[in-house]
Amino acid sequence: MKVAAVYGSPRKDGNSAKMLNAALEEFPENAEIRKIYLTDKNFQGCCAARHCLELGYCDIMDDMQQIYEDLIWADIIIFASSSQFGDVPVDLKALMERTWPIRGKLKNKIGGYVVSARRYAESTMNTLHAFMLRHKMILGNSGAIAYTVTEEGGLENDKLALKDSRKTGKRLVELYYLIHHEE
Ligand SMILES: Cc1cc2nc3c(=O)[nH]c(=O)nc-3n(C[C@H](O)[C@H](O)[C@H](O)COP(=O)(O)O)c2cc1C
Repeated sequence: MKVAAVYGSPRKDGNSAKMLNAALEEFPENAEIRKIYLTDKNFQGCCAARHCLELGYCDIMDDMQQIYEDLIWADIIIFASSSQFGDVPVDLKALMERTWPIRGKLKNKIGGYVVSARRYAESTMNTLHAFMLRHKMILGNSGAIAYTVTEEGGLENDKLALKDSRKTGKRLVELYYLIHHEE
């Protein structure tokens, strides 16, 4: 079971990161987990040069090249996102744009997410859903949202946040076994 855990918030130990860590605790010990902190990466969004149409790959040689490898390697991709101005943070959006050249390569991978927002997470979730469905991934999420209520709020403001994160982790593992027929 190969898992790419993508931390999308600029805060490496923030609310969404804590939720993703809780989800990962539900994975079996033999799961191989690659943790990808986007805030540590140096990469840009798509520049729309369309070189990839001829080349078959993206020729922007930044940290996205390693991320491509991690995403294609994984059986399960799980995202942690905060909500910033009503949507995913810019690094996560840049990652999404840059996956255009790997269309088809994420097909049938199991996808999930955890989202932390002060109050407004709908568009953030929509963006994550659209991303996974455009890639024909299997959306395995059971819906882990933290409403932190105040701008500086933490997970203590939402008693279900970590519980639902763990449920999401459990569901992704369950789907993996269902699809891969492994015990
Ligand atoms: C620049 C910025 C914009 C934000 N915009 C929103 C927003 O539109 N809606 C919302 O509910 N929360 C918004 N927030 C609050 C964060 O989503 C919330 O604090 C979240 O819990 C942070 O998660 P993190 O600790 O994983 O970064 C914003 C925070 C920042 C820094």
